[in-house]
Order: sequence, then structure tokens, then C-alpha cells
Amino acid sequence: MKNLHVIDHPLIAHKLTIMRKKDTPTKDFRELLDEIAMLMGYEVTRDLPLEDLPIETPVAPAIGKQISGKKLAVVPILRAGLGMVGGILKLVPVAKVGHIGLYRDPETHEPHEYYCKLPEDIGERFIIVVDPMLATGGSAKDAITMIKNRGGKNIILMCLVAAPEGVACVTDAHPDVQIYTASLDECLNSHAYIVPGLGDAGDRIFGTL
Ligand code: PRP
Ligand code: URA
Repeated sequence: MKNLHVIDHPLIAHKLTIMRKKDTPTKDFRELLDEIAMLMGYEVTRDLPLEDLPIETPVAPAIGKQISGKKLAVVPILRAGLGMVGGILKLVPVAKVGHIGLYRDPETHEPHEYYCKLPEDIGERFIIVVDPMLATGGSAKDAITMIKNRGGKNIILMCLVAAPEGVACVTDAHPDVQIYTASLDECLNSHAYIVPGLGDAGDRIFGTL
């Protein structure tokens, strides 16, 4: 799985285990997702290019650094992806936020599009697509296609838990997209839920179980 990066950090592993527990309440689940998104955001932005910036400190002139080139866009896949936006915005408050609405048909597990609103200059931005769950991969694959159809080029996918089937689906369709996850789980069950996973992420974030 050459495009897959499992972000291996003790804080992320600890917090994810609490999220997986079936009795973890909505408030804790949402807060932990926000914290993990920030920790993962730190990793996925590691290679952003820097340029020199001449500044004056109170003591002397100095050459500082600033992020150069492409600006950021965060694009959550609704609904559950919304739970990962705040964590990234804490790190990069000036990032623009696009939204893609997709829901998975409960019978066929196929994604259906219902909304898309992206920053006008999406083609100029480094794009982080966020969704906690990468199961069959259908939703992420379609979301990335929608972004590319509107001019997006420089795209990564950040999810919390991935199934091997989802990684393969996205990599086959979009070999240019790197995938970052906190965990590569075992498989999908007959309802296309990730095993062991954490259940329905959207319902657990928003308390709609
Ligand atoms: C979930 C999840 C992903 C999708 C993953 O969303 O947040 O978007 O399923 O499944 P896939 O990889 O098989 O496409 P869901 O469709 O349940 O919608 P929700 O976020 O509104 O709950
Ligand atoms: N969507 C979820 O929220 N969880 C899964 O395990 C699969 C799809």
C-alpha cells in the first residue's frame, strides 16, 4: 500500500482506543476526534514549503520562515468529516473550507452526492479531504473526483480509520493521492462497516444513534 501513511503516535493510539469503545459518550467522542485531527494535521502539513521572511525582533534583524506557495483548503465529506475540520483550523486558521455532501445508501453502500461547495481558487490550494471513515472507499473516491472535476490537483486524504478495501479503491482511482490514517483496520463486515472500527462515525459525533 504505497500511498498509505499510518500515523503512529502514542497520543493518537490512546485517544482512538477511547473513541472505539461503544460506551464512550458523544461529547467525549467529538472532543477526541477534534484532538486527533489536530495531531494528524501536524503530521500531514509537515512538508509544506517554507520561504525566508526578513523580520525585526526587539533585539536585532533576523530571517524568519513563513509558509510559501500554495494555501490550504480543508474539505470535509459531510456529515462525519465536519468533526475533523476544527482540529486542522486550530493549526492553520486561514485555511478555506469546502464542503462535499455524500451519503452512503444503506442497502447498496454506494455513495450519493447531494452538495458541493469549494473555494473558487481550489486549483491553487493544497487540499486536505477529511472523513473519519474509509470503508469501501466509494465516498472518498467520488469526493476526490468531484474536487478534481472542479480544478483541484494537489489533494491528500486524511481519515481516522481505514479498511484495506477503501485504501485499494482510492489508490486505484486516484494514484496521485496520498492517504493518511490513524489506523489500518482488519476488514469490512457484511454491512460494509469497518471491523473492528468504531461504528457509525456521523451518528457518534452528532448523537443521532
Ligand atoms: C460514512 C463515513 C464516510 C462513508 C465511508 O458516511 O463518514 O463518508 O460512510 O464509507 P465508504 O468508504 O464505504 O463510502 P455516511 O454515508 O454514513 O454519512 P454521514 O457522514 O452523513 O453519517
Ligand atoms: N461509515 C461509518 O461511519 N462507519 C463505518 O464503519 C463504515 C462507514
